Amino acid sequence: AQTAPNTFTHPGTGIVFNTWSASTAQTQGGFTLGMALPSNALTTDASEFIGYLECSSAKNGANSGWCGVSLRGAMTNNLLITAWPAGGEVYTNLMFATGYAMPKNYAGDAKITQIASSVNATHFTLVFRCQNCLSWNQEGVTGGISTSAKGAQFGWVQAFPSPGNPTCPTQITLSQHDNGMGQWGAAFDSNIANPSYTAWAAKATKTVS
Ligand code: HEM
Repeated sequence: AQTAPNTFTHPGTGIVFNTWSASTAQTQGGFTLGMALPSNALTTDASEFIGYLECSSAKNGANSGWCGVSLRGAMTNNLLITAWPAGGEVYTNLMFATGYAMPKNYAGDAKITQIASSVNATHFTLVFRCQNCLSWNQEGVTGGISTSAKGAQFGWVQAFPSPGNPTCPTQITLSQHDNGMGQWGAAFDSNIANPSYTAWAAKATKTVS
């Protein structure tokens, strides 16, 4: 079964997203992933997107926890985005796992730049541009998603503790996620592809590393 999207306009930036959420019963604090795509992405496969994450800092308060997304459902052999708060900033790392163990740093040329973020006592949010993220190549292991299919399988996880080395994204250490996980067969609707995409993407000028 496909999960229908909600449409969410991010208040700080006006960026319009399709979003899919996990409930507070599935993960303490809840979890939301959003995606905005270039205007022609429902007919011509896009290579990038603008993402939205609303992740939980349940249990340990402000600047704790991490969340993760698999861009094609399963943890293994798909590009992974890991995000966590530290010192009021939201850090990210692109990762890749060939087994159910600590992922490696992604070796391809994908890149995240930030548009907006927030950290409070219960949640952290991030609006980010992810370039070259919709197809991947980790030392010969390739894959990707087709935005023209008007949907994709996405995976999510959340964890209560902060990563080790939180202010050094390429050197984080993680324990297995312990605040829920799941997948959606996420359907896209026409609100995901917007003529303003290029202008929104141009606002992604911040790197937190
Ligand atoms: C699922 C281990 C980090 C994303 C799983 C499962 C294991 C595992 C054993 C299967 C659990 C089950 O089916 O009951 C680990 C370990 C990690 C780690 C040991 C680090 C030390 C990550 C990260 C991400 C991630 C960083 C994403 C950024 C997922 C997703 C699933 C999953 C989406 C559910 C889909 C699937 O079963 O493939 N993980 N994981 N994991 N993991 Fe991880």
